[in-house]
Amino acid sequence: MTDLKGKKGFATRAIHHGYNPLDHQGALNPPVYMTSTFAFESAAQGGRRFAEEEAGYIYSRISNPTLALLEERMAILEGGEAALVTSSGMGAITSVFWTLVKPGDEIIVDRTLYGCTFSYFRHGLERFGVTTRHVDLTDPAKLAVAISDKTRIVYFETPANPNMRVVDIAAISEIAHSKSATVVVDNTYCSPYLQRPLELGADLVVHSATKYLGGHGDLTAGAVVGTAEAMHDIRLIGLKDMTGAVLSPQDAQLILRGIKTLNLRMDRHCASAMTVARYLEAHPLVSRVFYPGLKSFEQYDIAQKQMEKSGGMIAFELNGGLETGRKMIDGCQMIVRAVSLGDAETLIQHPATMTHSTYTAEERQEYDITDSLVRLSVGLEEVEDILADLEMALDVAGGSNKVSMMARSA
Ligand SMILES: Cc1ncc(COP(=O)(O)O)c(C=O)c1O
Repeated sequence: MTDLKGKKGFATRAIHHGYNPLDHQGALNPPVYMTSTFAFESAAQGGRRFAEEEAGYIYSRISNPTLALLEERMAILEGGEAALVTSSGMGAITSVFWTLVKPGDEIIVDRTLYGCTFSYFRHGLERFGVTTRHVDLTDPAKLAVAISDKTRIVYFETPANPNMRVVDIAAISEIAHSKSATVVVDNTYCSPYLQRPLELGADLVVHSATKYLGGHGDLTAGAVVGTAEAMHDIRLIGLKDMTGAVLSPQDAQLILRGIKTLNLRMDRHCASAMTVARYLEAHPLVSRVFYPGLKSFEQYDIAQKQMEKSGGMIAFELNGGLETGRKMIDGCQMIVRAVSLGDAETLIQHPATMTHSTYTAEERQEYDITDSLVRLSVGLEEVEDILADLEMALDVAGGSNKVSMMARSA
């Protein structure tokens, strides 16, 4: 096995770590183990594997060699001891929580979360006696006040979906650890290329690998990274017995392929998003832009401190609110009206009625998800073409061609 730990750069690890073609008949790409089960040489051996007395494969809901290679790569890229891959990001998140919490526990989460994560905490875990408290984790002092001996997990996304709130991972981890709480960070928006929460003090990282890790919008998948001990438990309790959210070997192979170009794609997403964010900021129809790379971004300093670059996601609001936003979304011609993110295609959507419609109107108001917010996942097309499509859509929304002319001269 090619072990590049601590020796090579990010892209090299993403391409080579954990696999040597010469161990596999010279095959440059790893074989895809399309099998649900694995043969034992004897009854005794099967028994030893179930008893964890002997390493080896049993059944693909527990582990599979193609998934194991992807897990090796995820672990080394995030800087963790071990990883676990799942059939969706929600599969990763729920496998972690079903393993770690019990009735009577409390979890503290940030004010803003991806819609289905919010729904899982609010409508799922709460039914089983786990209390969720939303605390403004952009202010570590608020966590210091809110945390108690009952707090089992502190959970957040940074930047948060959809409004881009950035949380100081190191400061939050220090406070959480003073009460022995486990810090879980959803690193989907950044990928390990831009941000590595474990190096900043977090205990577990979760991903929707559907997004930047896969990178091509052709699969759903998730990942968890942390200590070998935590992965052992999450695999054998959360994944094996409680969620069964097992990734298919073919999808694991597609993610292994996607990860090989992660740094190149992320560099392009980031560069184009910066250009788009600046364009939007200067446009007279746009009232607010939320992008960590803009000096006007409220948590610019923290973002600079913990993110290598500012990412490919932008949120913005238009003068005229919801109706103008809808017109603008409908005015896009190349940009695709779709949820999800991190694909080659630029995607646009309206969180209040789509990804975050799991919140009630009151909850959205309480947790800073405004009705006028539009979310943009900046893709890999030529940035000039993305800008041209946005300009046309903003013209439609503003009801005049003059708007774009003003924007150009701004
Ligand atoms: C930040 C974040 N976390 C988790 C998820 C859930 O991932 P999946 O759709 O792969 O289940 C999403 C999906 O959009 C997301 O945006």
